[in-house]
Amino acid sequence: MKIQVLFGTESGNAEIAAEDLAESIRNDNQEVEVHDLSSFSIAELQHDSLYVFLCSTYGEGELPNTALPFYADLSVVRPDLSGVRYAMFGLGDTFYKDTYGQGATKLDDKLTELGAQRTGEIGRYDASSWEPVGEGAVVWFAGVLEGVSATR
Ligand SMILES: Cc1cc2nc3c(=O)[nH]c(=O)nc-3n(C[C@H](O)[C@H](O)[C@H](O)COP(=O)(O)O)c2cc1C
Repeated sequence: MKIQVLFGTESGNAEIAAEDLAESIRNDNQEVEVHDLSSFSIAELQHDSLYVFLCSTYGEGELPNTALPFYADLSVVRPDLSGVRYAMFGLGDTFYKDTYGQGATKLDDKLTELGAQRTGEIGRYDASSWEPVGEGAVVWFAGVLEGVSATR
C-alpha cells in the first residue's frame, strides 16, 4: 500500500507535520510521497493508495489557502471517490472555540459525501498546546495503521 501525505496549510505547520510524518513512515520502510494540496489534482486520487490529509483551519472555520483549489475542484467536479481510502488530521487552535479544527472537518465531510472511506478517527492538533505538531501526527497515524492491519 502506497501512502500519500497531502497537506493544506497557510503558515507552514501542516507542512512541518507532513514532513515529520513522512520521515517516520520511511523509517518504517514504507513507501511515502508528500504533496502540497495546491499541487495535487483530484484526478490523481487512486484506489491503491492511502491518502493522509493534514489540514489546518483559517478565517472562521475555513480551509487554508493551499487546500482551497483542491476543495473547489471536489465541489464542482464531484468525482466518484468510492474505493478511495484516506485518513484525516486537523490542525487548529482551541482559542477559536466554535470553529476549532473545522477546516479538516469540512474537507472530511466533502470526501465522505463523494464516497471516499475514512480510516480511523480524525486526528487533532491544538496550536495552544505545547506539543510539537509532528509528534502529534506521528502518534495519531500509528493508531490509524493499527486499524488498517486489524481490518485486513
Ligand atoms: C487568522 C487566523 C485564523 C485562524 N482561524 C482558526 C479557526 O477558525 N479555527 C481553528 O481551529 N484554528 C484557527 N487558526 C489556527 C491555525 O489553524 C493553527 O495555528 C494551525 O496550526 C495553522 O497551521 P498552518 O500553519 O499549517 O496553516 C487560525 C489562525 C490564524 C492566524
